[in-house]
Amino acid sequence: MPHPLPDALLAIPHRRDVPFAKLTTLGVGGLCRWLFEPVTEAQAQAFVRACAREGLPWRVLGGGSNLVVLGDLEEPVMRLRLPQDLRRDGLEVSAPASQGHIRMSQQVGDMGLSGLEYASGIPGSVGGALHMNAGAYGRELVDVLARYRFLTPDGDLVEKAPEPGEFRYRWSVLGGGRVALGLTVRLAEGDPARIRAQVEDYRRRRGTSQPLSKRNAGCIFKNPPGQSAGRLIDQAGLKGLRVGDAEVSPEHGNFLVNHGGATSAQFAELMARVREAVLAHSGIGLEPEVEIWPSPGPITG
Ligand code: FAD
Ligand code: EPU
Repeated sequence: MPHPLPDALLAIPHRRDVPFAKLTTLGVGGLCRWLFEPVTEAQAQAFVRACAREGLPWRVLGGGSNLVVLGDLEEPVMRLRLPQDLRRDGLEVSAPASQGHIRMSQQVGDMGLSGLEYASGIPGSVGGALHMNAGAYGRELVDVLARYRFLTPDGDLVEKAPEPGEFRYRWSVLGGGRVALGLTVRLAEGDPARIRAQVEDYRRRRGTSQPLSKRNAGCIFKNPPGQSAGRLIDQAGLKGLRVGDAEVSPEHGNFLVNHGGATSAQFAELMARVREAVLAHSGIGLEPEVEIWPSPGPITG
């Protein structure tokens, strides 16, 4: 990495040496050496353009709710800090990528718009939800997505409607150096009381099946087609398996929780042990659902 970084980057608001424990819900990882926090789309574009020009690798962070960080990260990380700004136009609502995902779900519900109830318990940012095509209870973001805006790896701005193949289960075309800047969802008129009741029902279901009182990163492994990774982990007898302060949740097998002092190495070891044990028990090789920074060979297989 060039030292110092180019002026075009250093002109963007940034912080040094921020612990990933503070940037992620799981609470492990080393230091984020360079955290850039653009407050305008122009600054985000300047970030991507400067990195492209210098040939610098970089990453984009949202709410850090789907991340397992294994160590320090030297490359610049961008976390959007665009102003919260929800805009309604009839049945369509637009939001910047840095909008809180749960907050957006609540806000549109309060407007009497139905379609984002499923998202009421999915933390993180709208940009991260778009990248992950986040979903729950049989729904996912692409189901309501009308348009999305993003920067290409060269920093060009594109706005488009989703097309077949661009979003699927916990995957989208937004990897590979694209940065989501915002989206527009198309919702339906709904009765606010019924929307609230549906949200309450989802919350109750989540509260009884997921370990929400401990730090975690949501489900760690993807559900294999027609299977539940949580059930497979459970059937392999792994609930309660512990490496230091990292534990397979006794409540839900696909949640690994941090009891407070877990390290990246403990999480990496626990993930590897769970994967090996499920493979031995059921012959199924689980794939991570979380993003792992930097990507380690053995866990992704
Ligand atoms: P991050 O974790 O910050 O990043 C995830 C990925 O998105 C990274 O690759 C990152 O580079 C990329 N990214 C972030 N912002 C952008 C951007 N602006 N442009 C391009 N790429 C970007 N997920 C579900 O799908 N369903 C659930 O039911 C669910 N339940 C959860 C419950 C709990 C308690 C927790 C902690 C997590 C849960 N998750 C769930 C996982 C997580 O909340 C989602 O994947 C979420 O959408 C990630 O958003 P984020 O902003 O935190 O992304
Ligand atoms: N199950 C077990 N033991 C367990 C966990 C689950 O037997 O330890 C069984 C349950 O009893 C149920 C089945 O497995 O019969 C499915 O469990 P659950 O309803 O909890 O759903 P899941 O498939 O484990 C998925 C998503 C969640 C999402 C829920 C609700 C994935 C990997 N997980 O979980 O998403 O919240 O459905 O829709 O797709 C995430 O992506 O981070 C996430 C939490």
